Amino acid sequence: MTKAAYLLPVVAAALVDADGRVLLQQRPEGRSLAGLWEFPGGKVEPGETPEAALIRELEEELAITVPQACLAPAAFASAPLDDRHLLLLLYITRKWTGVPRALEASALRWVRPADMHDLPMPPADRPLIGLLDALL
Ligand code: CDP
Repeated sequence: MTKAAYLLPVVAAALVDADGRVLLQQRPEGRSLAGLWEFPGGKVEPGETPEAALIRELEEELAITVPQACLAPAAFASAPLDDRHLLLLLYITRKWTGVPRALEASALRWVRPADMHDLPMPPADRPLIGLLDALL
């Protein structure tokens, strides 16, 4: 078994709409895991708190603003990534400002957790579906 060299912290958001659907974005061609549907988010940069990183990523990827008080820690999962181990921290938010736009993704869609099982998702995101379904 290969030993992970270090943990890579990644944060992601489950943006929940009034109907209990969650926003997924499709990773674009030319990037790792292209075509897979993920919870929006990205790497925590050195010196950032996880919450600050997520607020930044949501502005960069979707052009929305989320107040820190509206980010509720919800679940985590891990997956191997090259010589590292990705640690994915998922936050739930029901309040944001702006209409999400796919600034980096190739597409966006609103999906009920029960319908996510049929979508191709990154290995760290997939275990979070059941947890999310139980929480919403
Ligand atoms: O935007 P940034 O470059 O910080 O992050 P990214 O390239 O979107 O994501 C960093 C790593 O986390 C990639 O390997 C993604 O595949 C992974 N990731 C994930 O597994 N699940 C997510 N919901 C978001 C990112």
